Amino acid sequence: MRLFIAINLSDSFKNTLTEMQDELRRRHVSGNYTPTENLHITLAFIGEYPDPYAVMDALETIDFKPFDIALDGFGNFGDLFWAGLASSEALSSLAKKIRHALADAGIPFDRKKFTPHITLVRKAKYNKFPELKTKQTSMKVTGVSLMRSDFGKGGVRYTEVGTF
Ligand code: 2AM
Repeated sequence: MRLFIAINLSDSFKNTLTEMQDELRRRHVSGNYTPTENLHITLAFIGEYPDPYAVMDALETIDFKPFDIALDGFGNFGDLFWAGLASSEALSSLAKKIRHALADAGIPFDRKKFTPHITLVRKAKYNKFPELKTKQTSMKVTGVSLMRSDFGKGGVRYTEVGTF
């Protein structure tokens, strides 16, 4: 099972991200646009791992308090375009706690530095790099999800395995 830990987004937050994607299309950026239902923030990427229950047990040791997030910024990792988030102590501390809990439980995960982002387009192609402005939106994060990712005919599908 290919697993990752993510914040799923409210419909209105996702609508705003979709408007940013529409703006990219207007600027003739082509590529693999993330379908609206797949927009999310990854907190930790586990990858292939057979035991989601062990992951949930590790996550349930974390004390979680709801907090707000807001969109801020637009950027890229090479040809991957993303929407950024306003700097948030609560968000980075949550990612840190999750990663510690996974490490303590011996669950492997990608240790790349946490750069909070929401992928809008992969394999982006463009003539002129689009300088997008962020649209305003915010939401309360009330939980975190363990997600599985499956590749099918229609592309990648994410399913929630558990929440905490
Ligand atoms: P991305 O949005 O930057 O591509 C499911 O693949 C999720 O896990 C995606 O949000 C992806 O981030 C993220 N992820 C983080 N590290 C990854 C890795 N090493 N391989 C694949 N996906 C990774």
